[in-house]
Amino acid sequence: MVSVAVTVQQTARPAPAKEVVSCSGRQTYHDDMAKILYTEAVISQRVAELGRQIAQDYQGKAPLVLGVLKGSFMFFSDLVRAIEPCPRGLTLDFIRASSYGSGTESTGEVKLKADLKLEKVEGRHVLLVEDIVDTALTITTVSRYLLEECGAASVATATLLDKHERRKLVYRPEYVGFLCPNEFVVGYGLDFNEEYRTIPYIGVLKPECYSHLGIEAPEPDGSGESSDE
Ligand code: XMP
Ligand code: MG
Repeated sequence: MVSVAVTVQQTARPAPAKEVVSCSGRQTYHDDMAKILYTEAVISQRVAELGRQIAQDYQGKAPLVLGVLKGSFMFFSDLVRAIEPCPRGLTLDFIRASSYGSGTESTGEVKLKADLKLEKVEGRHVLLVEDIVDTALTITTVSRYLLEECGAASVATATLLDKHERRKLVYRPEYVGFLCPNEFVVGYGLDFNEEYRTIPYIGVLKPECYSHLGIEAPEPDGSGESSDE
């Protein structure tokens, strides 16, 4: 008989959590939404289409599907399951990218955090998965890094949203879920101030959600206090 000793370390009991109330004074994030742009059903249908298209295009290849954290986590997990029939040799990994800025605008300096082994990327066909391509500074930096530093055979991008009107660099993602209007959007992985990521649809917040935190509502140009991840 094998006996297992379990030691429970006693730590101070945490203070009871503060009641969290949304900006509208109610208990749920849904109350904070001014409008929904893409419903759960619409997203799911589009992700299925993208998955089928990707499966077809990568037939006979062994793609490395690389999620750009954090915003892509929900799209990534739905998309990889929709890549059907799944090409043999498909593997997954993640990279973390953040842009530095005053809080509302990126300065254009993108920092990458990757725990990728170069041999994992060298010679591979990489499919980057992004939540949103906006100015395209992030995706351009990540693509260049993979091609020039890591020796990827090819790099393509699947983005759920394309805010194409805000480009600072010319970049055309190969797979786009939706062309996104110039509004600051949250949900389905996208955050404001690290919140709202878990909402299953994509929407726009009520202006009072910003004033509630003493922040000005983002301009319709789409800039906002997202974590840029
Ligand atoms: P760039 O400008 O480099 O930006 O293409 C990409 C990153 O900026 C963030 N971003 C947003 N986040 N709602 C968000 O929650 C938005 O409307 C939005 N626009 C840009 C996002 O992290 C993206 O990966
Ligand atoms: Mg992102």
